[in-house]
Amino acid sequence: MNKTIAIVTGSSRGLGKALAYQLASQASELITVARTDDGQLHALANNNGCKHTHYRFDLSNLQHINAAALGIFSVLDPSASRYILINNAGTLGPVGQYGKLRHDATNAVAEAFNLNVNSIIMLTSAFLEATRNTGADVRVLNISSGAGRSPSAGWGVYCATKAAVDMYTRVAKLEAKHARLVSLAPGVIDTEMQENIRSLDPADFPTLERYTQLHQNRELSQPEPLAQKILNYLHSANFGQTEIDDIRHYL
Ligand SMILES: NC(=O)c1ccc[n+]([C@@H]2O[C@H](COP(=O)([O-])OP(=O)(O)OC[C@H]3O[C@@H](n4cnc5c(N)ncnc54)[C@H](OP(=O)(O)O)[C@@H]3O)[C@@H](O)[C@H]2O)c1
Repeated sequence: MNKTIAIVTGSSRGLGKALAYQLASQASELITVARTDDGQLHALANNNGCKHTHYRFDLSNLQHINAAALGIFSVLDPSASRYILINNAGTLGPVGQYGKLRHDATNAVAEAFNLNVNSIIMLTSAFLEATRNTGADVRVLNISSGAGRSPSAGWGVYCATKAAVDMYTRVAKLEAKHARLVSLAPGVIDTEMQENIRSLDPADFPTLERYTQLHQNRELSQPEPLAQKILNYLHSANFGQTEIDDIRHYL
């Protein structure tokens, strides 16, 4: 029997929530991580016969990252035929140009790197190690951003973290021959992150108008249909062939 175990970070809202809700009807076991629990997701998974475990960890905190990696992967069921890890949790981090990123922003910069980069490296490493000898189909999807591939003034921290995710994915692909890995830009999505972007000060983020316009013109992707498209992509036979990819390249 086909048995899929899926792990999704940042499952409490936005894209991660939409991915987790759809995986609750596709996977045999769903493991989610976010600071907020979601009872409705738990009920949905139970109704679908999907075993669901939620870990309330703050992935911007190094101790929580270690606890998550150990807690999830030391007890991972070795009998699945497919393992999926979706590193989706992310933050914009502190926004502002060089004059603003001073000593008082140090902690915020470190937390953004912990969440957007360090948690991905540590969770992926533990996942690859735990699945190495299973003989299963092993897939890692890192949610990156166009911001990691094209610079935006004021987004030095965000762009740098997403570029790091892209390069880490390339390195992990070289190392882990038993797995397929992709770093995927999802496009502009109608989530809380975009609300936060629209509330930025244009002095800190000069490209603000572009995002306001996209919202006004209803050009943002909705999380649910986008999640469906991303999961079709993740389950496809070609997944992993293009390790730095963009979902907007697909119909
Ligand atoms: N929205 C866009 O237009 C867009 C564009 C390109 C790329 N992306 C990327 O897509 C991914 C999802 O973005 P989104 O727009 O859905 O974001 P969102 O609406 O802000 O949701 C972020 C998710 O990450 C979790 N999260 C945030 N901080 C966390 C922490 N410290 N520890 C654990 N979990 C944490 C949140 O859960 P809790 O708060 O409950 O912890 C939430 O579930 C991110 O990686 C983002 O960079 C988004």
